[in-house]
Amino acid sequence: MAEPLRISWPRLRDRLDTLGAVGATGDGGCARLALTDADREGRDLVVSWMRDLGLRVDVDRIGNVTGTWPADSTEPPVLTGSHIDTVRTGGIYDGNLGVLAGLEAVETIIASGVPLRRPVAVAFFTNEEGSRFAPDMFGSLVFVGGLALEEALDTVGVDGAVVGDELERIGYVGSLPVPGRPPAAFVELHIEQGPVLEAEGVDIGAVTGVQGISWQEVTVTGQSNHAGTTPMAHRHDPAFVAGSVAVFVRDLAGRMGPPQVATVGRIELHPNLVNVVPARATFTVDLRNTSEAALQEAEAELAAHLDALAEAEGVTVERRSLARFAPVAFDPAMVDRVERVATGHGRSVRRMPSGAGHDAQMLARVCPTAMVFTPSVDGISHNPAELTHDRDLEAGANVLLDVLLELVTADSVP
Ligand code: GLV
Ligand code: MN
Ligand code: MN
Repeated sequence: MAEPLRISWPRLRDRLDTLGAVGATGDGGCARLALTDADREGRDLVVSWMRDLGLRVDVDRIGNVTGTWPADSTEPPVLTGSHIDTVRTGGIYDGNLGVLAGLEAVETIIASGVPLRRPVAVAFFTNEEGSRFAPDMFGSLVFVGGLALEEALDTVGVDGAVVGDELERIGYVGSLPVPGRPPAAFVELHIEQGPVLEAEGVDIGAVTGVQGISWQEVTVTGQSNHAGTTPMAHRHDPAFVAGSVAVFVRDLAGRMGPPQVATVGRIELHPNLVNVVPARATFTVDLRNTSEAALQEAEAELAAHLDALAEAEGVTVERRSLARFAPVAFDPAMVDRVERVATGHGRSVRRMPSGAGHDAQMLARVCPTAMVFTPSVDGISHNPAELTHDRDLEAGANVLLDVLLELVTADSVP
């Protein structure tokens, strides 16, 4: 029997480290916020690898980049990939693994000479993280037609920058129209970013879907005043409201129980001085649940709490939705395929939902989609300490390779 096709682990490890050095924060982590100079440098590097491989590199109007083989193909490809932007204090695997393992799988398929029934392609999508420009999964959302290009280009970031200007500045305004043409199928490899696989000693996650995500930005306006002279009963204090909401959502998630999670991730006070009751607080709330009904319940409870607080404290509250995505279920036949391939590799497999958002949840709107998870050490991610052991990265990349191989050689997809 012929040896099964396998990726080159040293080549993938080397590319992970080389890309990880772009925007390195000196503590093992990476800062490549979307559309910054560091993002451009990372993009240029991955594009150079795509070109070295002879892929046709296409860039669309929102800066999503796809490398396709064969370069002259016109049929919808089997697509893999993820993102290479990171949060400001990110690790080197989140997103990057999916792109570079995808590239590695494509390189392995090309080198094998196996006859393809359809093209194969690897992509990285613009601004998956959403930390600079909301919402998250921004580029893939535009790709599938969930966000109009004009609106996307006009989006203002937390630093006041505008997406359209930044895309132009870094040279990634492409010519391919959006929404893009749906691929034949999409498969994304990603680190789990949570503790489940490691805790259970399982090698591979066959991802069944992605939980619902609700992001809001809340701006509370009160009355700025002297910290020493203003009696407590006379205060209209936005910092108190921000703190109270952080405590409230923690309690709310506790009351609702898993899988409800709740996070206040950003708080800004103005004028942010030790001896001034703030005039304004701006903060974000991230709520997630695998059940849409439960997520709506959490949103309603938060809204009621904010209304009551505003009344009691004598402040005004404005809310702005930054992201709202319902839970997504992946194509059952695709999930089965991931599970079967991983089992065939001798790996233990667990079906599981994803806690993090992913480009795959957007692609699932337009084509059969699946994801492969690898374990995360201590379940740590969005942190420079993010780590997945080499053996798990290699195992995940080989599962991705065989899932892609099946899809590019099968009579029909999925
Ligand atoms: C993206 O990484 C998200 O889940 O926030
Ligand atoms: Mn990611
Ligand atoms: Mn992330």
